[in-house]
Amino acid sequence: MKFSRLLPMDIVKKKQAHHPISAVTAYDVFTAQLADDAHIDILLVGDSCGNVVAGYSTTLPVTMDQIIYHSQAVVRGSRRALVVADMPFMSYQKSITQARKNAGRLMKEAGVAAVKMEILPAQIDTLRAVVEMGIPVMAHIGFTPQTMFQLGGYKVQGKTDVDATALVDLAEKVAMAGAFSVVLEMVPPAVAGRIRAAVSIPTIGVGAGPDCDGQILVFHDLVGLTEKSPKFAKRYTDLRSVISGALNRYREDIEAGQFPGAENSY
Ligand code: KIV
Repeated sequence: MKFSRLLPMDIVKKKQAHHPISAVTAYDVFTAQLADDAHIDILLVGDSCGNVVAGYSTTLPVTMDQIIYHSQAVVRGSRRALVVADMPFMSYQKSITQARKNAGRLMKEAGVAAVKMEILPAQIDTLRAVVEMGIPVMAHIGFTPQTMFQLGGYKVQGKTDVDATALVDLAEKVAMAGAFSVVLEMVPPAVAGRIRAAVSIPTIGVGAGPDCDGQILVFHDLVGLTEKSPKFAKRYTDLRSVISGALNRYREDIEAGQFPGAENSY
């Protein structure tokens, strides 16, 4: 049977062919269908669902069951894109055994073709262990939201020479450990450029400037659904005002006795 979805190796081939990689977060079937129709390469079921869908102030409360639930919807809603599921906080930090079990759950129960892990230097062995089990891993370095308290909040990473060199070193280690791609979050463009040149796997930037092999944004920022979006996110439309206009007109129609009309009645 031919597998019609993009696979991690297709994403790697895009870097080799100098084709920019597009990625966006998705948490539901509707968004997945729209992003798939738009030929976005990667749909990430990010733990950012904790912020934008559930309204938490951090991603930390997100659970494995929640990521599985959202991932199943995204897999059902898409046919072409590579679907990647985020490993939530404390689903892989405790031990290699825990990481392998939960990465396996995402593949088996959610039906995704890869997982994403935020990686600190101490987690290279965990990443390698998951890859060795046959599970493709997208690494995530730079600003890592699951460790935001240790990082002192939402801060650009790799600003000093020492920090920049440490990030390049970490990117090389994740590539050596077998990650098929690496997300670079909130790092200066020059550091992203150094990493891109240093590793053969694709770099996917989010707040990392143009010198990356691909870009990812949170869907709700991209379509203008969030109240405020970070400086690095471009709002391609303003769905917030479109939707709130529609909701207001709906309420006004009900109050004026104009909905439902004859055309909406049996
Ligand atoms: O959870 C998420 O949405 C992410 C992306 C911003 C890369 O990690």
